[in-house]
Amino acid sequence: MAAKKIKDSIYWVGAVDWDRVLFDELVSLPEGTSYNAYIVFGSEKTALIDTVEPFKKEELFRNLKELKVEKIDYIVSNHAEQDHSGAIPEVLKAFPEAKVITNKKCKEMLKDLLDLKEEVFEVIEEGQELSLGDKTLQFFMAPWVHWPETMFTWIKEDKVLFTCDFLGSHIATSELFDTTDENRAKVYLETKRYYAEIMMPFRNFIKKHLQLIDKLKPEIIAPSHGVVIKDVEFMTGAYKRWVSDKVKPMVVIPFVSMHESTRHMVEFLTEELSKNGVIVRPYNLIKADVGNITMDLVDAAAVVIASPTVLAGAHPEVISFAYLMNGLRPKTKIVSVIGSYGWNGKVMVKHIQETLKNLKAKWIEPLLVKGLPKEADYERLSKFAEELSKAVKEVSET
Ligand code: FEO
Repeated sequence: MAAKKIKDSIYWVGAVDWDRVLFDELVSLPEGTSYNAYIVFGSEKTALIDTVEPFKKEELFRNLKELKVEKIDYIVSNHAEQDHSGAIPEVLKAFPEAKVITNKKCKEMLKDLLDLKEEVFEVIEEGQELSLGDKTLQFFMAPWVHWPETMFTWIKEDKVLFTCDFLGSHIATSELFDTTDENRAKVYLETKRYYAEIMMPFRNFIKKHLQLIDKLKPEIIAPSHGVVIKDVEFMTGAYKRWVSDKVKPMVVIPFVSMHESTRHMVEFLTEELSKNGVIVRPYNLIKADVGNITMDLVDAAAVVIASPTVLAGAHPEVISFAYLMNGLRPKTKIVSVIGSYGWNGKVMVKHIQETLKNLKAKWIEPLLVKGLPKEADYERLSKFAEELSKAVKEVSET
């Protein structure tokens, strides 16, 4: 994708990855992604802000050539992860006079990850400014979005904030901004997916970073994935809701069923909760996209995990999901387990409870059924749904 102008003397020079389907061998990318690098031409100095995945370096160099970039004085590294830093060694080879501008923690990580030498760095501190002549870069530490070394770069004169992964989205598109109708709905959805899968464990740090953005009042936010954001209020408003403690009256039911008994329980519970006025999202873990489930975890008041008992525990797919959920630490207020067993169901419940040890949620007494659910079991499930619906409504925003 050719270079694109954001403002006078500020250009997108990154790379679009149209067919990438997986990130970190974990996160699905239904819309592909982009690696956003930006070039800022000051009257005296030129700065490149972040780079691209090493396998996309030709696209970065093509864009620099198109803009007739003959010198780069500074390579700003907002985040050490290789999808943004990975091409720094190549840029340094092409522009050996350039200095890598970053914070102390990021410098150490870049040395580890890319084998960069001490002498290529210039370390900056919180709030420090760097003049490019008629433009000034200012740096703000923004740890844990989503690594400990992350920072933001601010151009005071233009009110443009470069936020690395923060407020980004995995979208491959030929459009630069979030302003077209074609982009708007997709940007919201994919930004939420990005938050759910990558940023959610750090929501308390994120609250502080959103306060910084409110203070700076940027006109444009340029993240390192997806589109450049002009509707700053809309996107930061969405993030503020996601990181808040408020939940929706929604129950997510991730499940696996081997011989239909657990499925019968899930289907009955889904109906009962729905009758009680609660939003329900059952997800068959064998088929469902995990990104879609995690997006619901951003808001859901409750999660009921449904599993058969197998291999003296919960189904491995259930444990894999519970492990992910434990790491993502959603703000879910209520959690429980249901499932069918042949001869010992308690080991399944214990397995899930141990896997979800980081979750700060209230447990509702799990409900187990021996074999196929029968009339008395459906009555118990009906009462379970009633109790759960009441609890969900009590903790949800109205
Ligand atoms: Fe897009 Fe954390 O790298």
